[in-house]
Amino acid sequence: MDHIQKSWSTFIIIAQMAEEEEKRMSSKKFNVALAGATGAVGKQMIACLEESDFPVDRIKLLASNRSKGRELSFKNQSVKVEEMTEDSFGGMDIALFSAGGGTSTHFAPYATKAGCVVVDNSSAWRMDPDVPLVVPEVNPHAVAGYTKKGIIANPNCSTIQMVVALNPIHQKYRIKRVVVSTYQAVSGTGIKAMDELSDQTRAIMNFSETESNVYPHQIAFNCLPHIDVFQENGYTKEEMKMLNETRKIMEDDSIQVTATTVRVPVFYGHSEAVNIETEGPISAEDVKSMLAEAPGVKVVDDPSRNVYPMPIDAAGQDLTYVGRIRDDFSIPNGINMWIVADNIRKGAATNTVQIAEILAQDYL
Ligand code: A2P
Repeated sequence: MDHIQKSWSTFIIIAQMAEEEEKRMSSKKFNVALAGATGAVGKQMIACLEESDFPVDRIKLLASNRSKGRELSFKNQSVKVEEMTEDSFGGMDIALFSAGGGTSTHFAPYATKAGCVVVDNSSAWRMDPDVPLVVPEVNPHAVAGYTKKGIIANPNCSTIQMVVALNPIHQKYRIKRVVVSTYQAVSGTGIKAMDELSDQTRAIMNFSETESNVYPHQIAFNCLPHIDVFQENGYTKEEMKMLNETRKIMEDDSIQVTATTVRVPVFYGHSEAVNIETEGPISAEDVKSMLAEAPGVKVVDDPSRNVYPMPIDAAGQDLTYVGRIRDDFSIPNGINMWIVADNIRKGAATNTVQIAEILAQDYL
């Protein structure tokens, strides 16, 4: 009897400790620095942090000295933007970076030295073998690798939405090869590019001359098969990112990806025409039902009613929309589909905040 009573009290003590630990974890709050807070992605990160109810204790908004003193709002409180310096990160737990590759290369090591975990949206650290590259719907377990360098990389926007749709197919059918053409919005280049598209559109409608400062050619009423810089192999850096990052996120170097990335005069939302070849037989019907159950995906596919994903519908949303799912009759095992997502949200800010949530919940 005594023995039973003792076990019962031990059980109660353990249950109380577990409850206390859970309470402690759920009430744990984090000091968060946002590097590049005034940019297109940075502003969206502020919105995502507010919407997701991320447990923020103190927020620090960082940008260049041009924005020093500007006021932005976080949860209805006005917050002054500070100039990012090497000393900006003391006392911060997590730093979300979206201030360009050069800025990340320079400042991220200062942030990690100050004890802060960096989630970086630039391409600076993505292919570093000691830095995990994470899309929460695909490889959330990779977050654990943050301990090596204190940095987690957020993938390229066009790659994120593609792998969200590819991963469930790969798990069941093993993808051999992907041929992708992208139709990418100007917001991916930043606020100045959005201004350039507006200014050029207005100028053309008023029969005036246009000026191109951000892109090498007019973007209004045009398409530029040129995103990021050209490489010696004839592809652009963006096209090579789609190959290398897909392999790293999906943890399979055998997948072949060939890409043509195109900038189009759309403000928000990247679209992609994707052709997939699998090892074994695959059917559009099965892909449709599989993707209907896949995390982060919404199938929008009813051609009889002219229903398919479009950037104007994806803008402001966090899901990846897939439609035009059809068998490719030109090869034995092939599928064609059309993938659309908001490049600033799922392609950047949302994915970054989702990574930070995993980090905060499971690791910090
Ligand atoms: P700022 O607004 O002060 O120039 P976008 O990609 O939309 O152009 O935004 C880029 C973001 O990166 C902006 O917040 C920008 O700040 C910030 N940024 C650019 N260069 C630096 C730098 N050297 N130090 C800190 N922030 C920077």
